[in-house]
Amino acid sequence: MRPPEILPALRERFSPMAFDRSHTLSDLDVEALLEAARWAPSAGNSQPWAFHLRRRYEAGHDLLVEHLAASSRRWAPDASALVVNLARHEVGDSGLQYSEFAEYDLGQAVAHMTIQAHAMGLACRQFRAFGLEALEASLEVAPGWRVLTMTAIGLGEPDPSTERTRRTIGELRSEGTA
Ligand SMILES: Cc1cc2nc3c(=O)[nH]c(=O)nc-3n(C[C@H](O)[C@H](O)[C@H](O)COP(=O)(O)O)c2cc1C
Repeated sequence: MRPPEILPALRERFSPMAFDRSHTLSDLDVEALLEAARWAPSAGNSQPWAFHLRRRYEAGHDLLVEHLAASSRRWAPDASALVVNLARHEVGDSGLQYSEFAEYDLGQAVAHMTIQAHAMGLACRQFRAFGLEALEASLEVAPGWRVLTMTAIGLGEPDPSTERTRRTIGELRSEGTA
């Protein structure tokens, strides 16, 4: 059976494993990516997200590359930009919770950025393959904030050796959790 029609960007988006080293992001490109994240929904409009973005040629990009794991080091340094995705859990170091939904909301903001990138002819690979605690220490992450993931953004092609697969609609309905 043919799958139902959905927004083309949702069907066509993919996470590349190789990026074009000659491509660069303009200031306007960066603004558009952040603007897309800015408009994501969040619990109580708390917007518990922040992004530490460095383009390949910018100061501070090498620091991000230093913390990549061996697996992501093979492709992430070639991306036009690396973004560290942070969520705000607490109000400073008071121990008071800032948002129960911080990680949930950050994920939506990153999804917005990812789809915006696709609409701009770019591609994103979100990843966790980096030294999280060491990166947090290097960036001197503010109290109450935590690094969750990184995103590599640039020009990329789908990996021909990897078939993109998904669970079926039936499996993702809650009855399928049994
Ligand atoms: C939270 C998160 C963590 C991920 N971590 C990694 C990672 O460490 N290394 C990697 O190569 N891909 C990573 N990915 C990318 C996924 O493997 C990829 O999105 C998935 O295989 C589906 O492929 P698609 O995005 O092309 O549909 C991660 C994705 C997400 C959302």
